[in-house]
Amino acid sequence: MQTIRGFRDILPENIALWQKVEKEATRLFDAFGFKEIRIPVLEKTQLFSRSIGEATDIVEKEMYTFADRKGDKLTLRPEATASIVRSYIQHKMYATDPIRKFFMMGPMFRRERPQKGRYRQFYQIDAEVFGVESAYIDSQLIFILTELFKRLGLTGLSAHVNSLGCPDCRPSFQRALLDFIASKKDRLCDNCLRRIDKNPLRILDCKVTSCKDVLQDAPATLDHLCNHCEDHFATVKTTLETQGVDFIVDKSLVRGLDYYTRTAWEIQTTTLGAQSAVAGGGRYDGLVKELGGPQTPGIGFAIGFDRLVEVMEQLDKAPQATALDLFLICLGDMATEKGYHWSCALNQNGIRTEMDFRGKSMKALMKRANKLNAHYVLIAGEDELIQNAIILRDMNTKEQVSLPVETLVPELIKIFKK
Ligand code: HAM
Repeated sequence: MQTIRGFRDILPENIALWQKVEKEATRLFDAFGFKEIRIPVLEKTQLFSRSIGEATDIVEKEMYTFADRKGDKLTLRPEATASIVRSYIQHKMYATDPIRKFFMMGPMFRRERPQKGRYRQFYQIDAEVFGVESAYIDSQLIFILTELFKRLGLTGLSAHVNSLGCPDCRPSFQRALLDFIASKKDRLCDNCLRRIDKNPLRILDCKVTSCKDVLQDAPATLDHLCNHCEDHFATVKTTLETQGVDFIVDKSLVRGLDYYTRTAWEIQTTTLGAQSAVAGGGRYDGLVKELGGPQTPGIGFAIGFDRLVEVMEQLDKAPQATALDLFLICLGDMATEKGYHWSCALNQNGIRTEMDFRGKSMKALMKRANKLNAHYVLIAGEDELIQNAIILRDMNTKEQVSLPVETLVPELIKIFKK
């Protein structure tokens, strides 16, 4: 049996970087006041089609959707934002305190063509903020991302930032875009032609080369911002500049999900080939209302965890695997029974201890201790028990000490906790 195409195991030998990122991200989120939220993997399909948008690649062709036994249409979550908004509304969080900051980490599912950096089950580290319209939050989220990447030792990343406007200025932009493509429709792909009526902004995100060529000089949202959006974006930019965060204003950045308003951004890398976005995010001031809640601004980002780990692997940022503290070599039934209880007591005290119950010879057990990279071995045969002198050997220095049976565990704890 094999994994499904685009799905993969993350094996223990590769987990150190994942755990390092989880730890660093959790510390950072905690310091910035974000609370962890856990959301279901499965939701009603409608949640995603209404939020991400019917005319997006994700909803049109990438979702894992099926009917359950009662015929309800369900979808494996392709992202976390929609579910977190649903949760915010369902639990009426806005009523007690509309200002909420959440983070979550977990798997997402999109049926894309698998390649390096692109999987059908992939992981995201997601953050969302509700109830704050101020541009300082936009800057702060981009700052948090760059701070996390800095702490993880990443280099070669660039933040691309754009403003997509709001419902007040979007129509003027859409009119300009439609005027621009009116005479060029014959050079657009079928998808783009379909999207002209459904959501013209999506056309700017088309990856087909001929469409990209046509759209090179297309109008940009930035040139059609209303005064409010322009001021908002100006504050985002000056705040980032003051904080020393490098960014590029990228007029062509439109993102692949429909819910965005105003600030949108991506953190890109040059080291992962075509899959250059390591994180993406933006503001979605209309989404809470769209999904049935009160008018509440929202903003957030998601990091592509798999991609982040791949960039770190390239930079050789993997921490050393943790070695075993102690391997017990217990020869004979009596020593094995005692060894079992010693090892459990040491494990309880956080000392990485292992033993082997297969009744192997001294030579074989020494070999295993070496294989497990044990720092110390404890040697307890019948002789050692009779003489009440259990041997502790440092595998690096080869130095040995003898320890009495009655005080063995507390003595070992003292040695390892030093
Ligand atoms: P997104 O741009 O669709 O945004 O995804 C965020 C990140 O997830 C991408 O930049 C990429 O690193 C990673 N990613 C996406 N698809 C794959 C894949 N098939 N394989 C590996 N990594 C992938 C969102 O999902 C929004 N919910 C972000 C957001 C949160 N906006 C506001 N709040």
